Amino acid sequence: MSTEFDDDGWPIGVDRILLDEVDSTNAEAARHAATHKSPAWILAHRQTKGRGRRGRPWADPVGNFSASHLMFPDEPLKDVALNSFVAAVSLFWALKTLAPSDGYALKWPNDVLLNGTKIAGILLETSGTQDGVDWLVIGIGVNLVHAPDISDVEARATPPSSIQAQLGKAPDAEELLDIIAIDFAVNRKKLQNAGFEAIRGLWLQHAANLGGTVTARTMRDEITGTFEDLDAEGNLILQTPKGRVAITAADIFF
Ligand code: BTN
Repeated sequence: MSTEFDDDGWPIGVDRILLDEVDSTNAEAARHAATHKSPAWILAHRQTKGRGRRGRPWADPVGNFSASHLMFPDEPLKDVALNSFVAAVSLFWALKTLAPSDGYALKWPNDVLLNGTKIAGILLETSGTQDGVDWLVIGIGVNLVHAPDISDVEARATPPSSIQAQLGKAPDAEELLDIIAIDFAVNRKKLQNAGFEAIRGLWLQHAANLGGTVTARTMRDEITGTFEDLDAEGNLILQTPKGRVAITAADIFF
């Protein structure tokens, strides 16, 4: 099955919505899902209440990239989170295309690093039950020209930076949206046609600190081990003195 694109290279059947300002593109996508049953990419030039993983705020001044992809996936709830790796791999390649550098890497679960600094994060939100998913929203934030103040993110594992600070220039947000939308559509087809194994392989090729020592800080405890693999469910596999441990959710330090 091939992905269809229009003459501008935009995936056919996917709405492209541009906003000057919104509270959160993820929140807007969830509201959109209530009235529109077609997939969409929603980009805002400024968010006033951007949200990050684990309930953290995500600051988004003008010039950065804030966009969310609304989808109506047909896979079961247990597989829906795998789309975060589809998004991470797509974002990685979109950034490499528009702001070339060998310094990009993927940090589990779904951050993009540039020269060891965090320049992008992904937040998945979904509505549904074990019996079926109503909608999935994949929110992507990229620090194109601004990085948040370190005090806002002191709990985070990797110091934030921006593409501008790292490379001296940064792509335009709308241009980045167009490339991400294409790459995501292509990689989503790979997931549907070839299964997660295809995406897992791509993700591992660019994983930061694979084979190195990492500490996973979960809600309950801290586990240190060698970052060995990403498993078929998207868990981080650590080899520890007590054996192999699969991490499902954590902040990662290395
Ligand atoms: C993280 O904590 O690393 C994830 C950050 C995700 C931020 C993006 S910006 C666009 C979308 N809208 C939001 O409110 N959050 C996501």
